Amino acid sequence: MSGMLDGKVALVTGGRGGVGRAVCERFEHEGADVYAADLSAGGSLANAEGAPGTFVALDVTSEDAAVAAMEQVESDHGRLDILVNAAGIEIEHTIEETTLDDWNRIFAINVTGTFLTSKHALPLLRRSDGASIINFGSYDGFIADPQLAAYCATKGAVHALTKAMACDHGPDGIRVNAVCPGYVDTPMLQSFFQESGDIDSLQQAVRDVHPLRTFGTPTDVANLVNWLASDEARYASGQLWVLDGGLSAQVQQMSL
Ligand SMILES: NC(=O)c1ccc[n+]([C@@H]2O[C@H](COP(=O)([O-])OP(=O)(O)OC[C@H]3O[C@@H](n4cnc5c(N)ncnc54)[C@H](O)[C@@H]3O)[C@@H](O)[C@H]2O)c1
Repeated sequence: MSGMLDGKVALVTGGRGGVGRAVCERFEHEGADVYAADLSAGGSLANAEGAPGTFVALDVTSEDAAVAAMEQVESDHGRLDILVNAAGIEIEHTIEETTLDDWNRIFAINVTGTFLTSKHALPLLRRSDGASIINFGSYDGFIADPQLAAYCATKGAVHALTKAMACDHGPDGIRVNAVCPGYVDTPMLQSFFQESGDIDSLQQAVRDVHPLRTFGTPTDVANLVNWLASDEARYASGQLWVLDGGLSAQVQQMSL
């Protein structure tokens, strides 16, 4: 334990998913008390055994559930230092193929979920000496992948919301940032690959298009989230931190 988050109290939504679990694990390793908030104790990985953090049942689309989760944190600790809004889903469609129900569902989880959890965490975050909110955007909020129209729209909304929250709550000592990953090897990415007939070739093609010739791991993302959550990042706020192996830095590759 290196103690970067010693004594801090953290809540991570989607805390039992691919990225969320890695974040909870790193936070615990750094000395934080961690709540892993998710729909189920297993989350996207299904297996709850040995998962880091105290599990809290939280559907981020429900205001009552957000209030109840914060009441639990308040009764246990009286304050919150770190909120990570990592709950999210992806829908692989063009807008023509997207039903209104799917559109509303992805906005309810990715955008409204970030709004509701943050809104009800703010009174507890104000009691912290160094509060940090970390939202999950995506490189898809800057540049589009084909067939992810609604997802791209939600991530663009999270980027704008992040900046607005940083402006409004910075004077209370609350920093707000978004981490914007590229391809990260989690159940979400695996379900994206499963849409293809030849998963191995697609995975290799995706690796090859990155300047670093690989996609990211949940641990790579947790390293950045951990820094943003820590007091070392005391002057970092209102920013969209892209972590994508250089993917968005290059023009599309061609053989010359
Ligand atoms: N994996 C990637 O390549 C990638 C890239 C860019 C951004 N992201 C973002 O990172 C975040 C984490 O993604 P991941 O790859 O770990 O996905 P994941 O599917 O492994 O985990 C997402 C978690 O969110 C939970 N969740 C879904 N709906 C919920 C709800 N209504 N309430 C509470 N929890 C809910 C799921 O149960 C799951 O455990 C997401 O916001 C995602 O959009 C992921």
